[in-house]
Amino acid sequence: MLPSLIRTMSTTNKMKAVYVNEQGDVDKLIYSDIPIPKVNENSVLVKNRFVGVNYIDTYQRDGTYPVSLPFTLGREGAGDVVEVGSNVKNVEVGDRVVYLGGSTYADYTNVPAEAVERLSEGVKYEDAAAIGIQALTAWTMVRDGYQVKKGDTILVHAAAGGVGLLLCQMIRHLGATVIGTVSTDEKATLARENGADHVIVYTRENVVERVNELTNNLGCHAVLDGVGKSTWDDSLACTRRLGTLISFGNASGVVPPIKIQCLTAKNLKLMRPQLFAYLATREESQKWWSEVFDLLAKKVIKLHIHKIYDLENAKQAHIDIQSRKTTGKLLIRLRS
Ligand SMILES: NC(=O)c1ccc[n+]([C@@H]2O[C@H](COP(=O)([O-])OP(=O)(O)OC[C@H]3O[C@@H](n4cnc5c(N)ncnc54)[C@H](OP(=O)(O)O)[C@@H]3O)[C@@H](O)[C@H]2O)c1
Repeated sequence: MLPSLIRTMSTTNKMKAVYVNEQGDVDKLIYSDIPIPKVNENSVLVKNRFVGVNYIDTYQRDGTYPVSLPFTLGREGAGDVVEVGSNVKNVEVGDRVVYLGGSTYADYTNVPAEAVERLSEGVKYEDAAAIGIQALTAWTMVRDGYQVKKGDTILVHAAAGGVGLLLCQMIRHLGATVIGTVSTDEKATLARENGADHVIVYTRENVVERVNELTNNLGCHAVLDGVGKSTWDDSLACTRRLGTLISFGNASGVVPPIKIQCLTAKNLKLMRPQLFAYLATREESQKWWSEVFDLLAKKVIKLHIHKIYDLENAKQAHIDIQSRKTTGKLLIRLRS
């Protein structure tokens, strides 16, 4: 397999990729040939097998987050190392790897060697691509953002989503009670199957009233909110005195500027994390990766792969993840 891959690269020097020349709606996504990137002395070239689709890809496509153009989408992938830079010591050609990086909606990605983790035998490429951003985000949040303890009650918005299902499983594992919010009964069932003790279907139930009923009017020790604009007020209301509100995403839009005094009445802590700041050093990165792979190996977490798309259908993946109809993880399979 590997020699033929290398031969393909050297004869064409081109690969398929999905990129944007300008930010905007899904029609701005272009599926076309671009040059295969070149490694530098400290990087490796990965032939991608599966890459993850994340909400951040839609923010980078639509202009919610700035990018320099042209911009190849994608922040995570799993595949085979096909070339290494002269200084690289931690991986070799032929290694199966997973990584977080840029420009992963492509046949090949140039990745800093220190961002690459070797896959243990038995870990499938699709599971590796599915576990990266979402599980690391969930686990850093419950172990560092707010250290979930036995007996806590934690509110998780979008509890049947990619990050949401993992949060439910992890929080249950840590001994706390999970209250999830979802939009449909089908999502409620899935959230329950994954560890949510109580689920609020917010399309027909009042979230604040239900949380008050469930917590004896005390509210939750922590509220984990990846929905953003539309849930901010409820999240603030549902966080108990001395509690922690973590706003980690913008699925419904960016939270508008807030007055810091909104935290005063209950002495709240507010956090707005981004995963990559948890992985700034090699040591930190290795620690968090090894912990999430350990959770997978011990079956503390189960991955839910919603759908696998071909690269040329990345547009449909973006439509789907923004449609609120998906649960769990969306992946792209690379074929060449
Ligand atoms: N800070 C970080 O480092 C980091 C890293 C990874 C992800 N995130 C964030 O985590 C959040 C979840 O990501 P994910 O990939 O797991 O996505 P997801 O939860 O699978 O999908 C988003 C969910 O949000 C809910 N939602 C509520 N209002 C919505 C609206 N107006 N439009 C779209 N969705 C809406 C929907 O669930 P219901 O139908 O149940 O309402 C939808 O399924 C995103 O905001 C993402 O940016 C942050």
